[in-house]
Amino acid sequence: MSEVLQPNVAPPQFTKMPDDMFNQLRNFIYSRTGIFFADNKKYLLESRVGRRLTALGLKSFREYFVTLMNGTGAAEMPLLVNAITINETFFFRNEPQFDALERILVPELIEKKRATGSNKIRIWSAASSTGEEPYTIALIIKEKLQPRYPTVRFEVVGTDINTQVLDVARRGVYKEYSIRNVPRNYMTKYFSQNGDKFILNDDVRRSVDFRQLNLFDKDAMRVMRDFDVVFAANVLIYFDFNSKQAVVSSIYNSLNKGGYFFVGYSETLYGLSQAFKPVHYDKAIAYRKE
Ligand SMILES: C[S@@+](CC[C@H](N)C(=O)[O-])C[C@H]1O[C@@H](n2cnc3c(N)ncnc32)[C@H](O)[C@@H]1O
Repeated sequence: MSEVLQPNVAPPQFTKMPDDMFNQLRNFIYSRTGIFFADNKKYLLESRVGRRLTALGLKSFREYFVTLMNGTGAAEMPLLVNAITINETFFFRNEPQFDALERILVPELIEKKRATGSNKIRIWSAASSTGEEPYTIALIIKEKLQPRYPTVRFEVVGTDINTQVLDVARRGVYKEYSIRNVPRNYMTKYFSQNGDKFILNDDVRRSVDFRQLNLFDKDAMRVMRDFDVVFAANVLIYFDFNSKQAVVSSIYNSLNKGGYFFVGYSETLYGLSQAFKPVHYDKAIAYRKE
């Protein structure tokens, strides 16, 4: 007779999230991060915030909300953000965008900048998660762009609201899942392997500057200036229309005139902003700041 295996998961030790708590929590999260949990995402908020209840030994979401609102709330906020964000990413995720960057955009930007006496290209991965996107850009710079333009100074900045993913990014150690799209020649040249771990070369790791940043925080966004290309891929989907508009407008201000903005494969700026001109490449769209 075959034995039926029960999953080894303890049932949650707290009560279900009442609807009024769902509303209060989602409004609070929205006001701080722009991330919006629609009615059909209640289960997600419940299970993610549930992890914080378990960690703190709390019995109800109401108790958790009180903790969040009182003196210790400031320390809890980043932990709540770490628990609720979705951080899916991998190297070379949207290859046509990186192709356009390398073959068309950067050469064009360099030519324009040379005319003004500048030799710096600044690229920002604005929701960098565990680092795969900014490191993909750094790899392309090392392998293709720097040898072609030896006098140009390339800068890559990666930011995210989640402090935990930034720690992972800074370590630069990945599993098979993350590196599955990396071309073989990049793997041999820029990674070493230890068991099931793939370790990025120090040189590439050091070439990306990681910082914590909330895209919804207008004051923090004012510091981000003078970028030639911004990637904010697969993050706008977590915002509602108003927060999308606010973030897109801040990113507009972060870009130099003639600079380019990339969103995710399934995202668009259509209906959000008329300040950018869509430029079509082979299987990719970039939005140019006019
Ligand atoms: C799905 S990942 C996208 C990673 C990468 N850009 C890609 O396309 O593969 C979305 C990231 O956005 C971050 N995020 C969500 N809200 C944010 C906010 N208000 N400010 C900055 N980052 C945010 C999350 O922490 C998460 O790491």
